Amino acid sequence: SRQLVVAVDGPSGSGKSTISRRVAQALDARYLDTGAMYRAVTYAVLRDGVDLHDPDKITAVAETAVLEIGTDPTGPYIKVDGAGVDREIRGPEVTRAVSAVSAVPAVRAILVAQQRAIIATAPRIVVEGRDIGTVVAPDADLKVYLTASADERARRRSSENAASQAATAADLERRDKLDSTRAADPLRQAEDAVVLDTTALGIDEVVELLQRMLEKVT
Ligand code: C5P
Repeated sequence: SRQLVVAVDGPSGSGKSTISRRVAQALDARYLDTGAMYRAVTYAVLRDGVDLHDPDKITAVAETAVLEIGTDPTGPYIKVDGAGVDREIRGPEVTRAVSAVSAVPAVRAILVAQQRAIIATAPRIVVEGRDIGTVVAPDADLKVYLTASADERARRRSSENAASQAATAADLERRDKLDSTRAADPLRQAEDAVVLDTTALGIDEVVELLQRMLEKVT
């Protein structure tokens, strides 16, 4: 049977991860979190003490760091140079630095190539990120662009970590601005993406909606 690729893009806190995982489960498909890959490279950049204003050194780290991304019985995992970094990549240091690293065009080229190689080997896959429908998988069977109000996104994110809602709102705003204004593959809607505002929708409702859309394209 034919390959199935679902692209899920949108800003932080739009519900991308939860919804992508649930849709992947429902489809018995692989799930690829491309944000985790940018975060893992950022972890290696900070580990090596590289200056965030030095794109050549950042690129050198991205070229040599060995990323392993997959799923084991306990869920998705990511390793950098053999070390598990699932907890570290969600911490404040990586979150603060990731937009600077992901704005370097050569870093994007390296990770996009790795992402396409992973997608090519999967019979069915749900891929989440910022540029999946526009750059990584422009031929995806279904492209979804998730949004939510700024308040709702900050509320969701601050319930996931210890930071206050105000600090989280400020961080989200800063990151979204950097991600959508950078020159290389900025966050934007693909023209053929289905746009879903999840502010007032429950997770189950969104997952059901996407499943119904998928029945039409498969
Ligand atoms: O999705 P998540 O919030 O974990 O992504 C972390 C960061 O990685 C984003 O803020 C963005 O800078 C970068 N990213 C990207 N392209 C992707 C996925 C993530 O630039 N496809």
